[in-house]
Amino acid sequence: MKSLLIKSVLRLKGEIVLLGDKSIAHRCIIVSALAEGETTIENFPTNKDCLYTIAAFKKLGIKIKQEQLKTPNKPPVITVFGKGLYGLKKPKGPLFVGDSGTTLRLLLGVLAGQDFNVGLIGSKSLSRRPMLRVTQALRLMGAEITANRKWFDRLTIPRTIPSETEGPQTANRIEEYLPITIKGKNLRSITYKMPVASAQVKSAILLAGLYTGGRTSVIEPIPTRDHTERILKLFKADIKLQQNKIVMKGQRELISPQRIYVPGDISSASFFMVAAVILPHSRICIKKVSLNPSRIGIIRVLKRMGAHIKVQGSRFKVQGCEPMGDLLVKSSFSKGTRVKKKEVPSLIDELPVLMVAACVAEGKTIFEGVEELRVKETDRIRSMSENLRKMGANIEVFNVGKSENIIIKGIKQLQGAKVRSFGDHRTAMSIVIAGMCAKGKTLVDDIICINKSFPEFLHTFKKIIY
Ligand code: S3P
Repeated sequence: MKSLLIKSVLRLKGEIVLLGDKSIAHRCIIVSALAEGETTIENFPTNKDCLYTIAAFKKLGIKIKQEQLKTPNKPPVITVFGKGLYGLKKPKGPLFVGDSGTTLRLLLGVLAGQDFNVGLIGSKSLSRRPMLRVTQALRLMGAEITANRKWFDRLTIPRTIPSETEGPQTANRIEEYLPITIKGKNLRSITYKMPVASAQVKSAILLAGLYTGGRTSVIEPIPTRDHTERILKLFKADIKLQQNKIVMKGQRELISPQRIYVPGDISSASFFMVAAVILPHSRICIKKVSLNPSRIGIIRVLKRMGAHIKVQGSRFKVQGCEPMGDLLVKSSFSKGTRVKKKEVPSLIDELPVLMVAACVAEGKTIFEGVEELRVKETDRIRSMSENLRKMGANIEVFNVGKSENIIIKGIKQLQGAKVRSFGDHRTAMSIVIAGMCAKGKTLVDDIICINKSFPEFLHTFKKIIY
């Protein structure tokens, strides 16, 4: 446990460049490993989750060179020596994927197409997260999967931490968890209508679809981040978007573009954006950030709240497949807004820090259909509302049918308090921002979890705090 005492900050000023987007980086490793030959990945993020993906592919027999990860002041570069779609080998023991849901769910898609069986294990927190959403789709494609299965008979479905403040979710169903064993088979292609909007589930099905002879189609209830589709296209997979359907034809060799640049992580950028908007007289520029349209919900919502955010030089980096640009953010007056359910996938990971922005905006902010927050690294509805209430915020959580909504009524300023990260990186970083903007001191119990996605978080802030 490492606690952090935060004092209020006057303003932010300066320029920062962030390491590559975590979601894109996972996919770069995976798809490069399944292509024949070398792929060099520039601006690779050195967070724990991405290192778990590297470790898993090394155990599956892929050589990955990562010398420059240790060179300070130089954006890390890694090289993956891919072995083609059928080049992976059976690992010696089970694969440990730590706390990384993206590693686990995407890897399941790849392993569904191998002709060996693999065991998968993870951290305590990941072992509490639901996996049936992936396993049921891969079973339909023919994979043989065993998982830790629990039957909830008119009982409550456990959240990652039990909720004291909000009512239980009642249900009558089965859920599956780690540990999982998967044995690949000759997969068949399917048309799959996803019950939840999840980029991880969509990606697992598409990656498994690489191993089928036919066309695999995925229909999403709401569009989610499309990094998998973009990178598969970059590697010359036969993948197309037909209205609300993603259609991919398998059994086609992946061809590496040889070099990829990973644009800065927009989820990491969101903490700086919100802090710069709230703190008076701030002006920052975040360079080379990923501006993928399926991820920029945070920019759209902050602008609707009145934020001064200017996108400069939006462009495609040569030999990349993701748009990026610079973000100029200035302190601004902000007012409440309504975040609709259909916007949620485009800002799912930014909701905790948007809740902080809503606390100090004038009027009411409504977040609709945010129930997926319950099954992240922790129950983020609970972790954020409990912490922000301690800091004086006015937050209500209520159910509308199967959806959960949050209403936050803005107050002038938050008050420093003793708060908890719940071991969740995004809760930790969001309350650090709340603490910077609050009156008095804030003590966060444990900030080690930040390393999961953004080990340079505090160091980067120190460069622009005045
Ligand atoms: C991710 C998808 C989202 C997101 C997670 C990363 C990805 O999860 O919350 O941090 O890289 O595909 P879901 O697919 O569960 O919504």
